[in-house]
Amino acid sequence: MEYEISPDYMPISPSALRTDTTVGCDIYMLAKTSIEVRYVLYCKADAVFENNKREMLLEKNISRLFISKNDQQKYYQYLESNFQNIISDTRLSPDEKTKIVHSAATNLVKDLFNDPRSGNIERTKKFAYNMVDYVLKDSKATHSLLKIAIHEYYTYTHSVNVAAIGTLFAKSIGLEDDDLKGFCSGILLHDVGKTRISTDILNKNGKLTKEEFEEIKKHPELGIKVLDETGSEFKEERIITIQHHENDDGTGYPYGLKKDEIDPRGKIARIIDVYDALTTKRSYADAIRPFAALVEMKEKMSNCFDKELLIEFIRFLGPYDPRKKPRK
Ligand SMILES: [Fe+2]
Repeated sequence: MEYEISPDYMPISPSALRTDTTVGCDIYMLAKTSIEVRYVLYCKADAVFENNKREMLLEKNISRLFISKNDQQKYYQYLESNFQNIISDTRLSPDEKTKIVHSAATNLVKDLFNDPRSGNIERTKKFAYNMVDYVLKDSKATHSLLKIAIHEYYTYTHSVNVAAIGTLFAKSIGLEDDDLKGFCSGILLHDVGKTRISTDILNKNGKLTKEEFEEIKKHPELGIKVLDETGSEFKEERIITIQHHENDDGTGYPYGLKKDEIDPRGKIARIIDVYDALTTKRSYADAIRPFAALVEMKEKMSNCFDKELLIEFIRFLGPYDPRKKPRK
């Protein structure tokens, strides 16, 4: 018999809980009887998650636990601070790790755009560095992360998916490991300047006026301002933030740079940003499917991109085309 999950609770994977840690929020088990379903307290917020608790789950074959939706923030904080342990845990499969990493990243990006102050910007940077470490350490992580990122392109987790796709693409064309970390963090942060632009303009239905578009065009420079206000060094992040709207033929903004005046990381960011825009549902246009987006980029917008790089990108996504049969 299938039970509806109460909207007040959120399922979590027991695999994400580390032995001998305190999670910081109450965790519940689902108790089913023939007449009712109840959420029973399994581990208190301040109690240590000991090995016997894990063994009990294995014995009873329980693969799902629950937290109150009100405690989501606490749970995600726990995941972020245990990130290194989770990704080096050999008992977890790459798919399980990726799901945990992905859900924590999604929550983080939501926080970042709701409150883009230095705390959340630093948090995003730290997380991006860890995410890249994970991808570099575990060769199976690439496949598993791309699988999730491409198949869930239509959801609100979009910016995380785009960061994942962009970083893995940058890795595939040989960006150095150290540069990749800043690149991933840069892709997550590149539009942070939009948080300084009126939502009336950002969410406007229909065509923007010339003045409104001039406002939008300020977001790369505003982004640099937001990064500078944190007082930290952001190297790759700055390049990506300022150059992600520069076109190969010089028609982009803010500076109208062309060809090799644009940093290779800026060129990749441009491709990723347009791919993101086309595959996301916006107030003024429906989302289009990933591979239709690539066709449109190649046929109608080729002035925007470094041609060779765009072909590399299409080649890179090819094996993950959802229309093809999954690889064994
Ligand atoms: Fe942008």
